Amino acid sequence: MTKLLVVATGNPGKLREIQAYLTDSGWELTLKPEELEIEETGDTFSANACLKASQVAQVTENWAIADDSGLQVDALNGAPGVYSARYGKTDEERIARVLRELGDTPNRQAQFVCVVAIARPDGTIALESEGVCRGEILHAPRGSDGFGYDPIFYVQQLQLTFAQMTPELKRSVSHRGKAFVGLLQKLPHLNQ
Ligand code: IMP
Repeated sequence: MTKLLVVATGNPGKLREIQAYLTDSGWELTLKPEELEIEETGDTFSANACLKASQVAQVTENWAIADDSGLQVDALNGAPGVYSARYGKTDEERIARVLRELGDTPNRQAQFVCVVAIARPDGTIALESEGVCRGEILHAPRGSDGFGYDPIFYVQQLQLTFAQMTPELKRSVSHRGKAFVGLLQKLPHLNQ
């Protein structure tokens, strides 16, 4: 039986991406109502993913899915973290700020984190999955694909930045890819 799952985002691109991960999962995905805006007031990725999924589920009286993600730089004590999207006005400004704050610091270690949460129609959280991708912050952007901080995030194992990877390759190593693999493993055991 196909069940409706409301995606707690206003972004059709994110709907397509989540759809790609959940193909053949038995869920039919739909975007949340446009007028329903949820403020990300949590101070962890988990708190934000859960509050978005929970509020959209309660308002729509359907199952809902949400994710929250961001970049954590070790030498910046985990910044920009949950403020990743708000660290500047444009991707260029956000990248420039991280590079400025890091300066010539030799410790370039960083990670992308993504938490995905699914809420039941009553707003309770049915499951949560986290994915982490470790990498290094370069001194200057490299590559032109992807979005956000992709051009400065270098994955040692592949010797490429996220912005130099095909979408398929990025999915196979990324925080979001790993979070969804974990989610898919947990889906059959969903306690309804
Ligand atoms: P959100 O999960 O849509 O709130 O996005 C958080 C922010 O983190 C994005 O706006 C990006 O700045 C950053 N971010 C999250 N995932 C990625 C990624 O895969 N590549 C580059 N930036 C990312």
